[in-house]
Amino acid sequence: MNEDYQIDHNEQSLDPADWDSMKNLAHQMVEDMFDYLKNISKQPVWKPIPEDVKKKLSVDIPLEPQSSESVYQDFKNYVLPYTKGGIHPRFFALVEGTGTPLGALADMLASTMNSNVCNGENTPMYVDNQVVQWCKQILNFPSFSSGMLVSGSSMANNIALTIARNNKVHDNVRVEGLVNVNKKMVVYCSTETHSCIQKSVEIIGLGTTALRRIPVNKNFQMEIDALKNTICEDIASGFIPICVVANAGTVNSGAIDPLCEINDLCKKYNLWFHVDGAYGAVAKLTDDYSDELLGIEYADSVGFDLHKWMYIPYEVGCVLIRNAEAHISTFSLNPEYLKIAKRGAMAGPESTNNLGFELSRGFKALKVWMSLKEHGLTKYKIQIAQNINQARYLTQLIQKNDFLELLAPQSLSIVCFRFWDSSLSEEKLDILNTEILLQLQEKGIATPSSTVLNGKFAIRVCIVNHRTKYYDLDIMLNEILKIGETLL
Ligand SMILES: Cc1ncc(COP(=O)(O)O)c(C=O)c1O
Repeated sequence: MNEDYQIDHNEQSLDPADWDSMKNLAHQMVEDMFDYLKNISKQPVWKPIPEDVKKKLSVDIPLEPQSSESVYQDFKNYVLPYTKGGIHPRFFALVEGTGTPLGALADMLASTMNSNVCNGENTPMYVDNQVVQWCKQILNFPSFSSGMLVSGSSMANNIALTIARNNKVHDNVRVEGLVNVNKKMVVYCSTETHSCIQKSVEIIGLGTTALRRIPVNKNFQMEIDALKNTICEDIASGFIPICVVANAGTVNSGAIDPLCEINDLCKKYNLWFHVDGAYGAVAKLTDDYSDELLGIEYADSVGFDLHKWMYIPYEVGCVLIRNAEAHISTFSLNPEYLKIAKRGAMAGPESTNNLGFELSRGFKALKVWMSLKEHGLTKYKIQIAQNINQARYLTQLIQKNDFLELLAPQSLSIVCFRFWDSSLSEEKLDILNTEILLQLQEKGIATPSSTVLNGKFAIRVCIVNHRTKYYDLDIMLNEILKIGETLL
């Protein structure tokens, strides 16, 4: 150091100058957030964002400081009131879980620890490993398999498909890329498969044309004969089939592909069997779906989300890979600065960087660990079964009403239906139901989402919500009928 250097002992830090006032603010936040959660059912599920609020959220980067208290006020005024509504008992859109109070607190604890859970001899690494082990138990996946907590199922599916590809063309692909693979590799999935699978197939360098979309039956499940025929045709035409992606709960209608039959075909033709269980895999815990979801445990890999039907706050998903060696050989890279030391802080378990693309990772395992300890698996089983029964109840109400039409068999906790009247053409029904859905959302009554099934616009209700009560479904349906009749 330059001898003339004058040290400025007034170093700054980003910690508060006054810890007590920061603590008061923290207490206030906890008070506010818990009141917010407690009273959420009295709020509209969703409300439009006023233009002046949007303006507040598109300003230049602040150069000068603002007090923590006023930053929090900004959050309360401009951010908190205009969410998607995912914690509300009548939020039924997409496949979005509800979070829990202890899960939220766990995120605060994890952020305070600020652990980067990728390597080293530290307890977050062990909690992370423990949670992955618990995930295997949830799905009855073999304990010798490997796995990792990830941001969600898009990432989980991508990791699995990358391993499936490498496993088929062996390690060489890491060195040479795909240039020496002179035949086109192909992947199979049903026409109902989530778009993240197409993205993955594109990212791993196979191109969209490598995705064979197999037709589905009237229950939206993959047609097994069509799958078999397509595989045989591809082999005869010189393609390299590498993987079948089966759905354990499609995003549209909750359909479960015939997992055991797909597994048999995969074994017969030496294909990687991957299950996208993002939404439905955890229904394996329930008595009603344990049979239909049998087969996940035979898969080469499975991706599923804890932030969906395990109600853990966003974000956390999991990928499990039966062949741990194939997993590691796809991702491991150990430069000097990442090597596991023999002793000291940088010793410890396998680096998670050797199990996926990401290096830095937050301590997402903590909220899962704390939530599973708080409730125990049995309570989750009951909670998931409750959502399934609520979907059944809704289905019954729809079937009993002449103005409502079910558009897909109810599967898991998804119900797709529409308002119906014999006087209306298909085109008019689509327009009417779009308007009903929008009004329902804009009035803040309930937030289902939509999809199109067999060319028909469907109001789609997905209940992965531990706050929903049966009467919430009555409230939603009554309003749908009211809006529909008024529009008619
Ligand atoms: C069947 C299915 N697969 C994959 C995904 C993607 O999961 P994520 O949003 O956690 O990335 C979803 C999301 O809803 C899904 O329903």
